[in-house]
Amino acid sequence: MSPSNSFTRRQFVNTSTAAVFVSNLAGILSFPQLPARNGAAAQSRVIIDTDPGVDDAFALLLAMRSPELKIEAITPVAGNVPLDLTLPNALRMVEIAGRTDIPVAAGAKTPLTRRLVTAAYAHGENGLGGAVFPEPKTKPVDEPAAELICRIARKYPGEVTLITIGPLTNIAAALAVDSNLAGNIRGLVMMGGSLSGGNITPAAEFNIYVDPEAGRMVFQSGIPITMVGLDVTRKTTLTEEHFKQLSSGKSAVSQAAAKIARNAIDHTRSLGFLVGPNMHDSLAVTAFLDPSILTFENYYVDVEVKGELTAGQTLGYSPTSGDLRRTPEKQKQAESRMVVRGSAPTLAGTKDSPVIRDRWVPNARVAVNLDSSRFFDLLIARLSS
Ligand code: BDR
Ligand code: CA
Repeated sequence: MSPSNSFTRRQFVNTSTAAVFVSNLAGILSFPQLPARNGAAAQSRVIIDTDPGVDDAFALLLAMRSPELKIEAITPVAGNVPLDLTLPNALRMVEIAGRTDIPVAAGAKTPLTRRLVTAAYAHGENGLGGAVFPEPKTKPVDEPAAELICRIARKYPGEVTLITIGPLTNIAAALAVDSNLAGNIRGLVMMGGSLSGGNITPAAEFNIYVDPEAGRMVFQSGIPITMVGLDVTRKTTLTEEHFKQLSSGKSAVSQAAAKIARNAIDHTRSLGFLVGPNMHDSLAVTAFLDPSILTFENYYVDVEVKGELTAGQTLGYSPTSGDLRRTPEKQKQAESRMVVRGSAPTLAGTKDSPVIRDRWVPNARVAVNLDSSRFFDLLIARLSS
């Protein structure tokens, strides 16, 4: 099924029984695309929300080496490591790329309602796989991340795409600060979630696992979402060959990327993994830069927030499942008749129906496949040129 624009934000909101922060969203739910470039002037405004993080560091460098992007802000959040490491790590990347013109604003120290669980086991205690860089001289701006996001979105209504590559706490906080935020944002491209099992629990992908409540708010916000999850990012393994290509580049960015790659590959091998690390977050940036590298399907995605074993799981509802094929006419009927079901009502509860939405309306296009070679061609070329 190809991405369709046949539903509006209002349709999505009207069928939502759980939407909390959505108000007057009336635009067509279409997914952000880069404008056609007629010379260097055509740039897309983005804010990058991140928890660096080995693959975040690569993603930030890739974004800062991409002339198509006008990066309005970088907003670190606690995730892979605590905020007192993700914030300076983001500032280090900005300095390495020579882009200290980009405002970096401190985000949330903890998830909305949970204790922080980090992934230092995978990213090393310093978040960069053990690669050491000098203390940054650049300071973050005074404004908190959530407020900066709202202010930039208000200044450029309909123009800003959020690229989120960490837990979604900052975005949820921003939605809470400004009830018009969802309507002002052009779209959100996230590394997060999975429709094929997790990486921190069997059910959940790390970014959504850390703050499932924030994830749920974002999926229910009405912002057109592009979900780049483990279904595709598992196929982005960094190799020795990539390291060699990066280390032969002369620029500060290439050398820094090579240093992080060396440390991260060694760290991953020391844990007993034969391959890895994966460049999850760079794939989300790439999905915005060149969506033709991936293929997408439309889903209604919701997040499990209650499960004792499954909190943070992303569930994708679609009338097209597995090998079931229908004629276009029957497919249309199936889409119009499908309801969204949750768990069966309990005897003790007040709910008497499992239906949580009376109509299936997609809120996300989900990446389901990619061309790994084209992805790495783009990533390595931009980092090492
Ligand atoms: C995601 O979790 C983090 O560890 C990575 O930086 C990436 O954003 C992958 O599940
Ligand atoms: Ca990340």
